Amino acid sequence: MQPPPSPTRVGIVGLGYVGLPLAIAFAETGHDVVGLDLDPRKIEALNEGRSYVEDIGNETLEILRDRLRPTGDYADLAACDAVIICVPTPLGSSREPDLTYLLDAGDALSAVLQAGQLVVLESTTYPGTTRERLVPILERSGRTVGSDFHLAFSPERIDPGRTDYTVRTTPKLVGGITEGCAERARALYAEICDEVVVLSTPETAELAKLLENIFRSVNIALVNELAQLCDRLQINVWEVIDAASTKPFGFMRFDPGPGMGGHCLPVDPFYLAFKAREHDFYPEFIELAGKVNQAQPAFCVERIERALNDARKPVKGSKILVLGASYKAGIGDIRESPALKILQLLQVLGADLSYHDPFVPALADLGLDSVDLEDGLAEVDLVAIVTAHPGIDYEAVVADAPQTIDFRGITRGLEAENLTRL
Ligand SMILES: NC(=O)c1ccc[n+]([C@@H]2O[C@H](COP(=O)([O-])OP(=O)(O)OC[C@H]3O[C@@H](n4cnc5c(N)ncnc54)[C@H](O)[C@@H]3O)[C@@H](O)[C@H]2O)c1
Repeated sequence: MQPPPSPTRVGIVGLGYVGLPLAIAFAETGHDVVGLDLDPRKIEALNEGRSYVEDIGNETLEILRDRLRPTGDYADLAACDAVIICVPTPLGSSREPDLTYLLDAGDALSAVLQAGQLVVLESTTYPGTTRERLVPILERSGRTVGSDFHLAFSPERIDPGRTDYTVRTTPKLVGGITEGCAERARALYAEICDEVVVLSTPETAELAKLLENIFRSVNIALVNELAQLCDRLQINVWEVIDAASTKPFGFMRFDPGPGMGGHCLPVDPFYLAFKAREHDFYPEFIELAGKVNQAQPAFCVERIERALNDARKPVKGSKILVLGASYKAGIGDIRESPALKILQLLQVLGADLSYHDPFVPALADLGLDSVDLEDGLAEVDLVAIVTAHPGIDYEAVVADAPQTIDFRGITRGLEAENLTRL
């Protein structure tokens, strides 16, 4: 099978936080891109030149209008040289991998799979998914992997909101089912990435991605636990971490916070735990880190209760303004956000709640709309900084509110009677 000459026509399945930036990266390098999503609102937005991903401006979509074709029809992928799958891989209700989106996408793709096409899976998943789950589905097309079509896994490493590392400057890992598959994937990504690292198997690439996320999860759990201990010891955890960070080797900084959110860190480690259990192996670090991080919102609520208690106020009926609802600063993604857990716990305790988040206009499940910051600060009893979005004058917040509690360390350097930090 000869690879098609560049530029290739690339199909992207799933135009979310991962798929849309990837589609843009290929379009910007002169490729024709077919962007497929089953959510008609996304297709409509793209057709109207409206971006729904913070890192991508409407003007970028406008410039690339001729090269990026949004569609909801899998048949449009038949004309592509390469198809990249970027659909969600969440957890089910019993915290086991839910591969429904991925298997559905594979099913639909196998119906239109063409000889000579390269298929790449980018969704985060447990080792073995590409070979054990995707190959059989795609081979239902009657075509054989390695000889009729190519298949590889290449994990997405995007960090939404980040500007110092981009799709181009972040090295890309690829692992192919065959050497030919790996070479095809390498050549594809070399079009948009400065460095492509070819691994021996898709399983290695799948596990490398999980290691990256588990590494973060475990280290965040470590500093979250340290923050709880420092609270008991009456030691400033931020000063401890600042101090340790002065060591130029052998230490990597992680900051404590209100818990772990997003689609990746709270979810991905459990993909590996699931696979490990299939092999009678119980990975303790993963479970322990998950336990510590998931308990962090409750610890934050306890800190809020204590802060109000110091002012002789109960949580019930107190006006609490939560600053930031998304899981990280600068973006509007609320998936698994610890702010939601904190809001829920405070709601159960009877707090008079409001929140302000310039990126999240409403929280339908909690029946709350983001309030104007000035309105929210009027007559409030306590402000809890849960996500430190840019563009907010935190010094002014501390000056205006009777009490502020900061779970992100954004007010470091500020000392005031009415200010406490994690
Ligand atoms: N968001 C991140 O920061 C990030 C980073 C690295 C890896 N990942 C991984 O990338 C994958 C995608 O994540 P995301 O954040 O982009 O998700 P997302 O929810 O933002 O986007 C996924 C898109 O896929 C679409 N979709 C679902 N089923 C489909 C189907 N059968 N056919 C076509 N489209 C379908 C959805 O409508 C949605 O628009 C996940 O596996 C995630 O773990 C995400």
